[in-house]
Amino acid sequence: MKEVTAKANANIALIKYWGKRDDSLFLPTKSSISFTLPHLTTTTTIAISDAPQDTIKINEKLVQDEKITRFLNLFRKKYCVSDTFVINSKNSFPTAAGLASSSSGFAALAKGLCKLYDLAMAGRTPEAPTKELSILARRGSGSACRSVYDGFVIWHRGVTPPTGGTTQKTHSYAEQLFPPEHWPEFHIVIALADESSKKVSSRIGMQKTIETSPHYEKWVKRSESRIPHMIDAIKHKDIDAVGTLAERDCLEMHHCIQTSTPSINYLRPKTRQITDVVKKLRLEQKIPCYFTIDAGPNVKIITLKEHAQTVVEELKEICSVLTF
Ligand code: DP6
Repeated sequence: MKEVTAKANANIALIKYWGKRDDSLFLPTKSSISFTLPHLTTTTTIAISDAPQDTIKINEKLVQDEKITRFLNLFRKKYCVSDTFVINSKNSFPTAAGLASSSSGFAALAKGLCKLYDLAMAGRTPEAPTKELSILARRGSGSACRSVYDGFVIWHRGVTPPTGGTTQKTHSYAEQLFPPEHWPEFHIVIALADESSKKVSSRIGMQKTIETSPHYEKWVKRSESRIPHMIDAIKHKDIDAVGTLAERDCLEMHHCIQTSTPSINYLRPKTRQITDVVKKLRLEQKIPCYFTIDAGPNVKIITLKEHAQTVVEELKEICSVLTF
């Protein structure tokens, strides 16, 4: 039986994606920028099954995951495939704790499926990260479209043509802005505030935010306007500019989330303790370090390699820390 293995890494958003303008097509309300984390990897093996239904294991546990099933059905329909699959997916980091496991998970799944069927996306090899692969991964989880690339990545919001129709599905995709070698000193430290799964999924959280937060529309505009500034800051390897923009964007996103009705809060008291340490290091010791937080309590600290150890030593006192 043919079996393929594919890998993809999680990414963290420097300018966030939070909200869809089309829920079923996973079209975002705005563009976003991320950095792919070289060591937070999902490894997925896929084989064609003899059984009438898919078998899905995540970290050795059998799961029934509505999002994965929906994605597999979409793949079967799009590529006229009638097979079912045995899927084994393993994360090298805590699942669903704001470490963006769905980004690497769906990117690895999309890559693996393309490999299994030798789908030469737009004439290229299935292994090559392509626009088409990114579009496919997007339909599993929005942030996954960025995880098909290394380094610094932009996910274009895309424009919905006035006529609507099928072309709008293909206008929103990710592409690499800069490879990791562009800025090898750029470094992320991860502070784990809580490794348990999140209570409100991103999908539901964003729907509620769009529907009820009075601050959401303003954030979308402000956040979109940060995109060219973030590209410029990465281009010039300006850690203070990257960090300031990322921190602001994250704080405003969480403000929108918290002002939803009913209020949603992904942060924990430990999250606050961690961000206080980061601010103190920056203000008192002049260490260039900034934080960003996704839909979970853990904190990613944006810094430079030469300062990573100082950040780790300070944070180790209050929580577990991952650094690469
Ligand atoms: C806060 O990509 O997990 O991490 O598209 O509904 O699957 P779905 O959501 P998901 O949301 C990620 C949101 C975020 C910010 C980001 O990664 O840009």
